[in-house]
Amino acid sequence: MNSRNSSLLLESMLSLLNAKGITKSFGDILVLKDLDFQLSKGEFVAITGASGSGKSTLLHILGGLDTPDSGIIKFENKAYPKKSRDIELFRNNHLGFVFQFHHLLPEFSALENICMPGYIGKKDNIEDYAKELAHEFGISHRLNHLPSELSGGEQQRVAMARALVQRPKLLLADEPSGNLDSKRSKELFNLLDQVRESKNVGIVVVTHDKSWASNADRTLNIKDGKWEV
Ligand SMILES: Nc1ncnc2c1ncn2[C@@H]1O[C@H](COP(=O)(O)OP(=O)(O)O)[C@@H](O)[C@H]1O
Ligand SMILES: [Mg+2]
Repeated sequence: MNSRNSSLLLESMLSLLNAKGITKSFGDILVLKDLDFQLSKGEFVAITGASGSGKSTLLHILGGLDTPDSGIIKFENKAYPKKSRDIELFRNNHLGFVFQFHHLLPEFSALENICMPGYIGKKDNIEDYAKELAHEFGISHRLNHLPSELSGGEQQRVAMARALVQRPKLLLADEPSGNLDSKRSKELFNLLDQVRESKNVGIVVVTHDKSWASNADRTLNIKDGKWEV
């Protein structure tokens, strides 16, 4: 094999997510303009940009929660499934999401919330791994509490454990520290970084926090629907 072929092979082995030519409009507003995005396995990328610049739209598209008008997304070199049932299954099995507002179910305990994707995916023995994650995130003693009884930082850790309980290879987070003070925000960053390390999860995070942006492997800034160079 020549060196060009071997470097292409290496690149494809390392590739987790590869999006090309992503374009998206809402009515007359062209939000994303022919964007490319690559993420390697276990890589931590931060996306920054002004409010309304298209960050959430891009994250939703990368996570299969929304479809682009044109462009293609490959996960481990395979195109995302097209049928909605298939993409739901794919999301449940391979992707984890964390949002600014944790969206925990108020009437379920922290443990039940963490296990929920596993219950939906009909996985057995999900509790053991849920408890392992809770231990790693320092919330073992809070597992029997309802979300309303937890602090903001604890709620976000529960949400993160829930996002990871299906052992995804990709974690997508939209301003996960948006409601936390700077100390809690730093703690959450360190936890994410630790997760990337211990579980080889690729992470894409939209953030306004400058320290997150400067500590990620790469930071990309989006402006008017394009990467700022
Ligand atoms: N579902 C939608 N319908 C119509 N317009 C939308 C929708 N989602 C986002 N937009 C518009 O797309 C642009 C980018 O939004 P968004 O991706 O949420 O930006 P950001 O997350 O960077 O603040 C904004 O002008 C917003 O109003
Ligand atoms: Mg947003």
